[in-house]
Amino acid sequence: MFGRIFRKKQEQKDFSGLVMPRHIGFIMDGNGRWATRRGLPRVAGHTAGGEAFKKICEYCINRNIDMITVYAFSTENWKRPQEEIEGLMKLFVENMHESIEGKRAKDMAITFIGDRTVFSPEMQKLMAETEKAHEHCPNKMNIAINYGGRAEIVRAARILAESGQEITEETMSRNMYTSHGPDPELIVRTGGEKRLSNFMLWQSAYSEFYFTDVLWPDFDEEQLDKALDYYRSVSRRFGGIK
Ligand code: FPP
Repeated sequence: MFGRIFRKKQEQKDFSGLVMPRHIGFIMDGNGRWATRRGLPRVAGHTAGGEAFKKICEYCINRNIDMITVYAFSTENWKRPQEEIEGLMKLFVENMHESIEGKRAKDMAITFIGDRTVFSPEMQKLMAETEKAHEHCPNKMNIAINYGGRAEIVRAARILAESGQEITEETMSRNMYTSHGPDPELIVRTGGEKRLSNFMLWQSAYSEFYFTDVLWPDFDEEQLDKALDYYRSVSRRFGGIK
């Protein structure tokens, strides 16, 4: 019932006419195991994950997917060893510079979602510059960094309460970080675990979920197409009947 209020059931198609989700969320899990299996430090897994991430962005643009959201760093990831955190931050900074300098064949309009106030002023400035660099790109990407789904819901409720607005599903949705796009029709999680890990809790109410044992650095074009085939194979009824 509620899904019908907010969800337009219009179908998104790629350039060859295949039905596509308009928004895909990616939980990019398995970088650490990918590295450990090769006798490499965990950070090497994140570097390989960064390469997979860039390719997946391009494949999604090629498939006419309007928006992707990637889970790059959760509020829980601060518990990791300092060396790994520093390696990840370095990778994010390098990626932002690459994006600003227009080094990619294809780019997306980037929005960082999550609480960025914990980052240094330099890092926050770089994030703002990255967002500005390709803001007119038709395809959009949200990078979840220091992000937690529960915190996002609390934040939305606070904004509404503090501004004296009514709290409804619609006003809450409008105050989620991803309100500039549709809710994700598909969430992909690599690395074998079958859980959301605090990712887009509000937005995923009606999402389809695709779980694969493939580790994120090995998630390639063929794997993306498997996830999209799965999406096309499942029936989406939003609590109604077909
Ligand atoms: C989870 O794998 C992955 C992360 C915490 C980081 C994800 C980051 C990237 C893929 C880097 C590229 C991203 C951007 C936006 C440049 P894990 O380390 O928990 O893997 P494990 O479960 O095997 O230990």
